[in-house]
Amino acid sequence: MSTPTAVLEGLGTALPPRVVTNAELADRLDTSDEWIRSRTGISERRMVAPGVATSDLAVEAGERALKSANVHEVDLVVVATTTPDHPCPATAPDVASRLGLGPVPAYDMAAVCSGFVYALSGAAGAIASRQAGRVLVIGSETFSSIISPEDRSTAVIFGDGAGAVVLRAGSAGEPGSLLGFDLGSDGALADLIKIPGSGSRQRATGLPPDPDDSWFTMQGRPVFTNAVKRMAGSADALLKRIGWPVDSVDRFVGHQANVRILHAVAEQLGVPADRAVINLDKVGNTSAASIPLAMGAAVADGDLAPGDRVLISAFGGGVTWGSAALVWPDLTAL
Ligand code: UT7
Repeated sequence: MSTPTAVLEGLGTALPPRVVTNAELADRLDTSDEWIRSRTGISERRMVAPGVATSDLAVEAGERALKSANVHEVDLVVVATTTPDHPCPATAPDVASRLGLGPVPAYDMAAVCSGFVYALSGAAGAIASRQAGRVLVIGSETFSSIISPEDRSTAVIFGDGAGAVVLRAGSAGEPGSLLGFDLGSDGALADLIKIPGSGSRQRATGLPPDPDDSWFTMQGRPVFTNAVKRMAGSADALLKRIGWPVDSVDRFVGHQANVRILHAVAEQLGVPADRAVINLDKVGNTSAASIPLAMGAAVADGDLAPGDRVLISAFGGGVTWGSAALVWPDLTAL
């Protein structure tokens, strides 16, 4: 019996209705629409209303993905997030329960902006080892809960949102099958993207927590250069492993961090810039939700069609990175 391959069969997304424009941020921070647009490509992002948490967006996206796949049962739920509802327990069991999925295994994946690709890889592994026949993978973030409203270097970049996919066991020749992964990490660069306080490292100091240390921090410049290097290197390694010539890639779905990063990665790879899917102008950087949100927007815009060869690549805190490849299936994204 051949090893089962994970096949994409459903896609759902959820964005909070509240739009935060660059102009609104420029009203209260020392920044400008021109700076944000030219440095990042972002025009607006979404923000949850008071009382809405990561699991709420995850349930909404998960429901849509299940409906898109026209299924009611899965064997595993994985939630990739940097902003879990609580430090303990994980968010995934609550999401599985609220989706009415029964006593299935459910866990969170913490790889920041690479979280969705890491979660996809874990889910594909569960399918290959026959531990699961069908998996719901969700990337969900409420970055507005960890961004200091006064930090212009992060407040202009990140947004809230969620995206989810359903994977089922199938075979490698089918449209939608995940043909391979390339993952990596470099913990020596952990300080580049960090919430310094609120973990056991802070507690181990024996000092009282400083409330300012519970905000998300990012060293933009080195993150930018490492993101380009690692996303391009990882995507290139994967293309070689699965035998796809670079000019056969129809769509490059990169982590939506910065339009300049996406164009630099495409250029290093040799993929024409117009094959890079871009939706960060409307949603900003939504971390673990960014890849499924970009795929959902591309399907809606007609930029992702059945039969397209799709290359996915992400970079995030840890630092971590990862790539995946698939031939786009015929599905309705909800
Ligand atoms: O999601 C994980 C992956 N994340 C990323 O990949 C993000 C990667 N990094 C980036 O996208 C870019 O580094 C940023 C968009 C974050 C910053 O762009 P940059 O071109 O690297 O700017 P910079 O951080 O080097 O800052 C340039 C200048 C600085 O002023 P000085 O030192 O030149 O006087 C900053 O203080 O821009 C200033 N600055 C701002 N000015 C207006 C920083 N943030 C802002 C702002 N508005 N929001």
